[in-house]
Amino acid sequence: MDNGKMGVGVIGTGFSADFHIQALLRLPEVKVVAVAGSSEAKARALADKYGIPAAYGSYGDLIADEAVEAVHNCTPNVLHFAVNRDVLLAGKHLLSEKPLAMNSAQSAELARLAENSKGVSGVCFNYRHFPMVVQARSMLRSGEIGKAHLVHGGYFQDWLLYDTDYSWRLEPGVNGESRAIADIGSHWCDTVQFVLNSRISEVFADLSTVHPVRYKPRLAAATFGQADDGDREAFEVATEDAGSVLLRFEDGTRGVFTVSQVSAGRKNRLLFEIAAAESSLCWDQENPNRLWEGKRSEPNRERMRDPGLLSPEAARLAHFPGGHEEGWPDALRNLMADFYREAMSKREAGEAHRPGPASFATLADGHGIMKVIDAILESRRTGAWVRVDD
Ligand SMILES: NC(=O)c1ccc[n+]([C@@H]2O[C@H](COP(=O)([O-])OP(=O)(O)OC[C@H]3O[C@@H](n4cnc5c(N)ncnc54)[C@H](O)[C@@H]3O)[C@@H](O)[C@H]2O)c1
Repeated sequence: MDNGKMGVGVIGTGFSADFHIQALLRLPEVKVVAVAGSSEAKARALADKYGIPAAYGSYGDLIADEAVEAVHNCTPNVLHFAVNRDVLLAGKHLLSEKPLAMNSAQSAELARLAENSKGVSGVCFNYRHFPMVVQARSMLRSGEIGKAHLVHGGYFQDWLLYDTDYSWRLEPGVNGESRAIADIGSHWCDTVQFVLNSRISEVFADLSTVHPVRYKPRLAAATFGQADDGDREAFEVATEDAGSVLLRFEDGTRGVFTVSQVSAGRKNRLLFEIAAAESSLCWDQENPNRLWEGKRSEPNRERMRDPGLLSPEAARLAHFPGGHEEGWPDALRNLMADFYREAMSKREAGEAHRPGPASFATLADGHGIMKVIDAILESRRTGAWVRVDD
C-alpha cells in the first residue's frame, strides 16, 4: 500500500458503512481502497462520494482484492457470519459490526476461527471508546470509589415508534430472533461489562412488542431513512420493540436495564448509573462530555471532558480541550485508532506479534454478548432466571 498505509475495504453501503468510512478518513495510517455493496452501482456511488478507487458488487471480490488488508463488515446481521468467516479464513484483519452473528452457534464458530486467524479481529461496540466511559472504568479499577454493587440504565430510541416505521431489523430472517435487545441492548451490555470489568452471569427478562402488526412500505427503507411512497402492506411483528432485564454479574453486582425503540423523544440515549461504595457514577450518551458523580457526605459533582481532569486512559481518548465538544463520531474514530494500532503492530511484528490488552471488543467478547442475548430470549420463553452459558 502507498506510504506504508494499510489498505481497508468496507462491505455495505448504508448508515454504518458511511460512518466507518468517515472515521477511517481521519486515520493517517489507513487508506480505504474498496467498497462492496449488494450491487456494483450502490458500491460505486459510495466509493465515488469519498474518492475510493475500487467498487464491487460481490463481497467475495473485495475480500480477494490484494490491496485490501483489513475488512469492515457493515452488512445487515444475516450476512455477518458468512462475511466474517470468509475474512478470517482469508487471514485478513476484521472489524465486524454488532451483533457478531445471528445466534451464538455462529458466533462460537467465529470466535474459534479468530483465535487461529493471522489477522486482528474486533467487534464494533463503539460506546466503550468515549472518554467519559473510560473515566468511569478507571475510577472503578483504581478503587477510588470502592466496589460497585448496583447498576441500572438502558438504551432508548424512537425511530420505530409508529406502526408505519420500517427497517430490515423488523424481519427476523435478516435481523435475528431478537431486535431491541440484540440491536441496542447488546451495546448497553458490552459497555457496562467493560466499565464494571465483570460479566453478566444471569438474566431475567420481560420483553414486549408494542406493535404486533406493522405496515411495511412496499419500497423498503434504509436505516433511519424516510423514503416511502405511502403504499404499504401489513405484516406480523415477531420481535420485541422494548424490554427490561434484571441482571446478576459474576462479581456479585446486581442490575437492571431497559431498552426501547419506541420511546418518543429519545434518539440514542444509552445511559448507565453505577452505585459503588463511595460514589455513584452516571453517564448519558446524549450528553457524552459529562460524568456525574453522586456523593453521600459532600456535594455531588460533574466532571467535564477536559484532558487535564481525566485518568491517563481516558485523556488519551479526548482530542480537544474541554468545552470543545466531542461525541459519537469521535468515539468511533477512537475505536478504529486502537484497532489499527494493533493491526499495524501485527503487520510489523508478524509471527512475533503479541496482542496488546485490546480496548476494543474481541470476537470472544462479541460471542459472549450473543450468549447473553440467547439467555435473555430463553428467560422470555421460560419466565425464569437463566444462567448465561459459559
Ligand atoms: N455500532 C453502531 O453503533 C451501529 C450503528 C448502526 C448500525 N450498526 C450495525 O451495522 C450493520 C448495518 O446496519 P446499517 O444501519 O448500516 O443498515 P443499512 O440498511 O443502512 O445498511 C446495510 C447495507 O448493507 C448492504 N448490503 C446488503 N446486502 C449486501 C451484500 N450482499 N453485500 C454487500 N452489502 C450488502 C445494503 O445495500 C445496505 O447498504 C448492522 O449489523 C447494524 O447492527 C451498528
